[in-house]
This record gives sequence, structure tokens and C-alpha cells, in this order.
Amino acid sequence: MLQRKLSIVAPTYNESDNIAPFIERAKEVLGQFDWEIIFVDDNSPDGTGQKAFDYSMEDRRIRSITRLSDRGLAKSSIQGLLSARGELLCVMDVDGQHDPAVINEMAERLESDKLHIVSAARRLEQEQELEGLSPIRQKLSTFGNWLSSRVLGRKLTDPLTGFFVIRRDSFIETAPHLGDPGFKLLLDILYSNKALRHAEVPFDFGVRLAGQSKLDSYVVWKFVTFLLSKMTGGLVPVSLISFLLVGGSGIFVHFAVLYFALSLLVPFTIAQTAATLIAATGNFLLNNLLTFRDRRLRGWGKFWGYLKFLTVSAVGIVANVSAATLTYERLVHVVFIATLAGIAIDTVWKFVIANRFIWK
Ligand code: GDD
Ligand code: MN
Repeated sequence: MLQRKLSIVAPTYNESDNIAPFIERAKEVLGQFDWEIIFVDDNSPDGTGQKAFDYSMEDRRIRSITRLSDRGLAKSSIQGLLSARGELLCVMDVDGQHDPAVINEMAERLESDKLHIVSAARRLEQEQELEGLSPIRQKLSTFGNWLSSRVLGRKLTDPLTGFFVIRRDSFIETAPHLGDPGFKLLLDILYSNKALRHAEVPFDFGVRLAGQSKLDSYVVWKFVTFLLSKMTGGLVPVSLISFLLVGGSGIFVHFAVLYFALSLLVPFTIAQTAATLIAATGNFLLNNLLTFRDRRLRGWGKFWGYLKFLTVSAVGIVANVSAATLTYERLVHVVFIATLAGIAIDTVWKFVIANRFIWK
């Protein structure tokens, strides 16, 4: 019998103890395929990449790619997928939470229903008590599912799963349209190519073998801003969404500091100045941590960036007030709209400068 060619793309970050059991399990259950495993490692400090490389020297079915910069789960997966030689491509975790045996079911479904892509949906019901996930993760996951289904326009049990099989030609056709969805590659694939025929196969999400999860608050932030950007039809870029959210939080900080200072009988001008400075500082730090994380400033660069940001904010206040006044006088005599116009112009101006001259 002619065996079908299958490529497993396994992105790794600090998984050195999980590589060997993963390969063993794949060998055990994937007999029907002519398979290869492509480890795509983001130069893990724990030596995962070296380990994968050692295995690739022993077994020609195993390949190893090491990336030196621009860390990311989706980016690694895409790179691996693009170099895969199989007719069927699979992306999965190597930490024991995804059982390679499920690939057999997915491939079968792909054939029998003439589909382009099949994902493995985590069975998260009752008895199983979601052994793989903490309570907060479960809540976040439910919310994420709901939001994703809305953005996608199709109903999925588990749009956030990181385990799926796709035909090579379908992936190649979709790849040029993919963005940087952080952890959620499946979602981006389905969003970017609405013509793909897709189905889900349920599976039991296992418990991580060794090491720990890399899904941190930054990953969640990227995911939320990614979805919001998609909700605007991609019109507002992810970084601007992030900048706007940070700016929005700054307004709260501003008012909180202002009223606190006023309650302590600090004179208005001083209270207002303090509020502006503290809010701008918070905005700078958050933008450095979230919006422009891949170009994060450190040391002196951070200090100079901060001074520039304050200057831009100061100019922004002038821009804001003039825009609001102009709108008020020339167009509509509505305070609310005029103020919004002022804030909009101020924000866009700050974003443009920040993007081009501060976090270059
Ligand atoms: N190359 C690379 N770069 N690999 C990464 C990175 C990275 O920055 N971050 C994580 N990985 C690898 C891990 O080594 C692991 O094999 C896999 O990606 C999943 O990472 P985990 O840290 O184990 O994620 P999780 O188990 O918490 O999250 C699971 O659920 C998510 C949905 O909530 C995974 O199945 C995700 O794929 C899924 O999106
Ligand atoms: Mn995991």
C-alpha cells in the first residue's frame, strides 16, 4: 500500500524533556503514514533545539529548524509548514497534551468528507473536569471561543486549539494572507481563507508532561487585539488597536490621579499636571511592554524614548485642544463630538510618531 506523506510541525520552546517521549509516541501510532517531524525551536535556553538536532542526525524522518529572533508560536509554525514535504500537514504541541494518535482520526475525516482542514477540539465537558486547564484558563477559553466564533462567522467548539491537519495545497494557498495571530494560527487560517471546508474531531486534552505553559498575559493580549483588528475587517491594524486600548486605560489613570490629588486639596494646575504626567508614564510603559514589545526599548534607549513620548504627548495636548476648538467652531457645536475629534486626532498623531520615531 502506498503510504501517504505526513509532516508534523512541532513548534518548541523549552521542551527538552518532552522531545523523546513525543517521538516515541509518534513512531508507535503513525504506522500508516510516511511521516516526518519538523521541530521549529525558538533557540530555547534549555537546549531543546540541540536535542532535536541530535535526533535529526540519527533519524532522517526528523528535521530541526532553529530560529534566532522574532520568537512566536504562530511564526514558528508557519515557517515549519512552509518547509514541510508532506501532502498532509499537522501542527501540534509536543508537551504530551496532544496525542499523535488523533492525527489518524483527523486524516480519516479529511478524506471521507473531502475537507481541506480538520482540527482537534478539546473535549472540555463535565466528567473530565478539564484536567489540562486551570479555572481561569477555562473562563478565558470560553470567552475566547465566543469572541472567535463571532469574528469567524462559523461556529466552532474549539477555535483556539493548537492541533490541526491541513492539506498542503490549502495551506500554501492561504499562507500569503496570514498575519501574526500569536498562538491562534488555526483561527487566522480559517479567517483568511473562507473557502476552506473544515470540521472538528473531538479529543481528550492531556496533561503537560514536563516543563510549563508559555501562554502568558502577553499572549492573551495579542489574541484580543488580533480579534478586535479582524472585527474592523483589518482596517485598524493590531498595533493601533493595542495603542488605543493603552490610551483608553490612560484616561482612567488620568482621572483617578486628578480626583485623588484634588481631594487632597492640591491646586488644580498642579493636580492636572501630575495626572497628565502619570498617565503618560503609564502609557509609555504599557506601550513598551505590549504594543511595541518586539521593538522593546531598554536602558538608555528607554529613557530617551520616554522623554520623546512625553514631548509628543505635550504637543498632542495642543493638537487635541486645537482640533476640538476647530471642530466646535466650524462644524458642529456639540461639545462631545468636538472633544472626540480632538482625542482622535491626538491619538492618531501620537501613534504615527511613536511608531516611526520612538519604537523604530
Ligand atoms: N517555537 C515556539 N516559539 N514554540 C512555542 C512558543 C514560542 O514562542 N511558545 C510556545 N511554544 C510551543 C510549546 O513548546 C508547545 O509545544 C506548544 O507551543 C504549546 O505551548 P504551551 O505553552 O504548551 O501552550 P498551552 O498548552 O498553554 O496552550 C494550548 O492551548 C492553546 C489554546 O488555549 C496549546 O494547545 C496552544 O496551541 C493553544 O492555542
Ligand atoms: Mn501545552
